Amino acid sequence: MKRGGAGVPLVHSTPMPFDNYLGSKGADFEYFERLLEDAGSSLNAPAGVIVETTQGEGGLNPARVEWLQGLAELCKRHGLLLIVDDVQMGCGRTGPFFSFEIAGIEPDIVCLSKSISGYGLPMALTLFKPEHDLWGPGEHNGTFRGQCPSFITGTAALKHFWSDDTLERSTEVKSAKIQAGLEAIANQTPGTHVKGRGLALGLSFDEQAPLAEKAAAAAFERGLLVETAGHKDQVLKLMPALTITDDEIDEGLGIVTEAVRSVTR
Ligand SMILES: Cc1ncc(COP(=O)(O)O)c(C=O)c1O
Repeated sequence: MKRGGAGVPLVHSTPMPFDNYLGSKGADFEYFERLLEDAGSSLNAPAGVIVETTQGEGGLNPARVEWLQGLAELCKRHGLLLIVDDVQMGCGRTGPFFSFEIAGIEPDIVCLSKSISGYGLPMALTLFKPEHDLWGPGEHNGTFRGQCPSFITGTAALKHFWSDDTLERSTEVKSAKIQAGLEAIANQTPGTHVKGRGLALGLSFDEQAPLAEKAAAAAFERGLLVETAGHKDQVLKLMPALTITDDEIDEGLGIVTEAVRSVTR
């Protein structure tokens, strides 16, 4: 079996169903909790649980607030570290700086990347609760560490956009505008529905998955870059810059409307 390089092999993690897979909060956790409690379940005792509060590449699936709270409680009961992967949904993508703020939970570890440099420069951060930070001085070292330009732009972006709630409020307003635009498209396109949270929104083609790729290609021909997400690439996924203007939203939605119409006519 081929294994990863220096990282943790994929076989050392066990995927679990996300919110709503088994229909309700209770059912999802009943399954996981039963595996944890049964020494003969064949699930090795996990050190922690890694979760995206809204699955990005998984197809823009937002976990319900009560599901996230239930997961946090489960982790506490079983002594598991709660790790939120906020690489895609953090830095204000869903509204608040951390995507888990809406659930009022306190993860032990938070992974941030992508937008954290504020300027498209490579940068990633792993935040720990102080009690989990066991590194001694100089212990976590290497040849190439963080790159200084990213630290400068990241600091400037944090200061500029996160000293108050202006960006968060504007993300809510822009999200509502894009959702309304996508709902209008969904209403005219049988078999589709709107998904996502904040400024990570999309149109799912459900059982007609290939149409999402075709719509993405049609949008690209019209000058708009959109990608697809989901296990069947069935979701046309919009991730505009949080600083997008209202005019740009209108223009983008116009292109998406035309693109979807052109492949579903
Ligand atoms: C949720 C999530 N986690 C982790 C990653 C990987 O991020 P990086 O390339 O910064 O390691 C991605 C990349 O798309 C992602 O979407």
